[in-house]
Amino acid sequence: MAQRKLAMTAALKPAGPKGRFLVGNLLEFDRDPLNFLLRCAREYGDVVYFSALGVQIYLLNHPDLIESVLVTNNRNFIKDKGLRIRPIRQIFGNGLLTSEGDFWIRQRRLAQPAFHRERIAVYGQVMVDCAEQVIKNWRPGETRDVHQDMMHLTLEIVVKTLFGADTATEAQDVVEAIEVIANQFASQSIYILPLSFLPTPGQIRFDRAVKKLNKIIHQIIRMRRDRRQDRDDLLSLLLQSQDEDGSQMTDQQLRDEVMTLFLAGHETTALALSWTWYLLAQHPEVESKLISELREALNGRPPMVSDLRQLSYCEMIVKESMRLYSPAWVIGREALQDLEIGGHFIPKGAQVMMSQWLMHRDPRYFDRPEEFRPERWAEEQIKSLPKYAYFPFGGGPRLCIGNSFAMMEATLILATIAQRFHVAVVPDQTVTPLPSITLRPKYGVKAIVTPR
Ligand code: HEM
Repeated sequence: MAQRKLAMTAALKPAGPKGRFLVGNLLEFDRDPLNFLLRCAREYGDVVYFSALGVQIYLLNHPDLIESVLVTNNRNFIKDKGLRIRPIRQIFGNGLLTSEGDFWIRQRRLAQPAFHRERIAVYGQVMVDCAEQVIKNWRPGETRDVHQDMMHLTLEIVVKTLFGADTATEAQDVVEAIEVIANQFASQSIYILPLSFLPTPGQIRFDRAVKKLNKIIHQIIRMRRDRRQDRDDLLSLLLQSQDEDGSQMTDQQLRDEVMTLFLAGHETTALALSWTWYLLAQHPEVESKLISELREALNGRPPMVSDLRQLSYCEMIVKESMRLYSPAWVIGREALQDLEIGGHFIPKGAQVMMSQWLMHRDPRYFDRPEEFRPERWAEEQIKSLPKYAYFPFGGGPRLCIGNSFAMMEATLILATIAQRFHVAVVPDQTVTPLPSITLRPKYGVKAIVTPR
């Protein structure tokens, strides 16, 4: 019966742009992914078919269809092909972001307690202290790349919250090695990454950085196991966490999770902040409302986790900036079997794409979507918003494990810095979104920082 139904819907292959012989739509996609996807959605609607080097790709452009893949039918999908290429495996190993099936379920269960809301509240102070440290180096009137500052800041936070005091000496080495790794990803097209077995200078630097990090991480794990110390950091929680049968993570598994958290946990939050500075600088009315809120809630003192309830406009700003410039701009899955989504046949092995860049700017769900308007996140305004019209952290069982951590971090950092400095983006610079694994500002965000 199910087979017959699928055979019937097989005729309904969705429309899409015509591709070239062999390469399909690869060149158009690679040249300008954001505009290519936008054109596909505008011209062909909620389900679009295209291909790249023989890989069949289905773009889903409706909240219900996205929910169907991420939630209702999640068991029929695994992560997309892109996550199985060598450099990704080399770094993330079998960590939470890349693992599948029962293994992933077990790991998620072991790691989850470390991310509970009450647990992560402990890290609030580290976040604020690190942010204060960064602005100590800001000289009045100087021009800085605030994107670089945010990258450095969020990396330091993830290193300190994961490893706590143990990293005092290694922190700088860890930060440098991770920066080499992150830059290697950002500087390459996702289609070049599979060629990473070629010994180019970038690849050699990358391999060396991975080796160095592996060494440091293994050393810290060994030390922590030997001393049997219990601390308040994430590594302690991961070391202690036990499955129902009493089993714990192996060293290799801990290494994969730690590396995953380092990488998944810093660049995304840094980007949410970099784009926030960029947008705030162009919207003085939003900035002055923010400053009023900060004055009222904090009166010049540094924020604390207990202030977050009073910093609702600050949080709305972060949400709105992740709507326009979602650090994760696309999520991919691969179908494990033939199935039907939205009346269309999706064959086993096909890749499914769901793009935050498209959904978050869709006028069906967001009034005047190009406008930066944090007020749209007021409680009463979002009641009618379909759940998957906005999904910066993904959804379903694979929802970002660090979502509360990230929201707390971004809000506290924005509050700490904004009440002390005005960040004015240098006029006439081109701030172009670069859709690599994440959505980066291609040339950074240069800004003049002035104390308030
Ligand atoms: C603004 C900041 C962040 C954004 C936009 C973001 C976005 C995402 C998205 C979209 C996914 C789902 C990917 C998919 O379904 O294919 C994800 C997964 C994940 N994120 Fe985040 N993330 C952020 C911050 C963090 C932080 C701070 C951490 C950790 C400290 C983290 C750790 C992870 C991990 C481990 C996964 C994989 C979860 C699983 O599959 O079980 N992320 N993130």
